[in-house]
Amino acid sequence: MKTLIVYSSLTGNTRQVAEAVHEVFGLAADLFPVEQAPTGEGYDLVAVGFWVDRGTADKKAQEYLAGLRNKQVALFATLGAYPDSEHAAQSMNNAAALLDESNQLTGTFICQGKVDPRLIEQFKKLPEGHPHGLNAERLARHQEAAKHPDSVDLAKAKAVFSEIKGKLQGITV
Ligand SMILES: Cc1cc2nc3c(=O)[nH]c(=O)nc-3n(C[C@H](O)[C@H](O)[C@H](O)COP(=O)(O)O)c2cc1C
Repeated sequence: MKTLIVYSSLTGNTRQVAEAVHEVFGLAADLFPVEQAPTGEGYDLVAVGFWVDRGTADKKAQEYLAGLRNKQVALFATLGAYPDSEHAAQSMNNAAALLDESNQLTGTFICQGKVDPRLIEQFKKLPEGHPHGLNAERLARHQEAAKHPDSVDLAKAKAVFSEIKGKLQGITV
């Protein structure tokens, strides 16, 4: 089974998850940043990683996802919000919705990733009541995000992708 892993990452969080996913597939897989990624041609599985930007896949990942045809596709992502939040589920759904109908989505994984401290500094300047203004709850979320992805996240990503690999090995050779 030939696997292509493509990731879009500004500050390295999603790249870390991509590298963990790569370990699952070993030598049979190719790993590329989205800026250098080939099309999915010739691959059985294309795993695409993105960072969540305003509730969906970031722009570069969006373009890559929209170009895929007739592939088994797995998605992984990092975001500042909690991975079990409605926002995380919605962001993953929004990214999946970019896929052409000829593709098949075989699995997804999402975890927290530290938010760029420069962005948090900007949030601190926002007036009270602004949706991104910092209150105790949001500050706690940023502090938690700052610890991710951690070794537990990477182990979870590997488990999810081991399962995807097992599932697909039954139908591709
Ligand atoms: C411009 C910008 C927009 C973002 N939008 C969201 C968002 O809508 N929801 C969210 O949970 N996190 C958001 N984040 C946080 C990132 O998704 C998160 O920090 C991610 O792990 C960054 O991944 P990277 O290190 O691979 O670039 C945003 C970050 C930036 C810089």
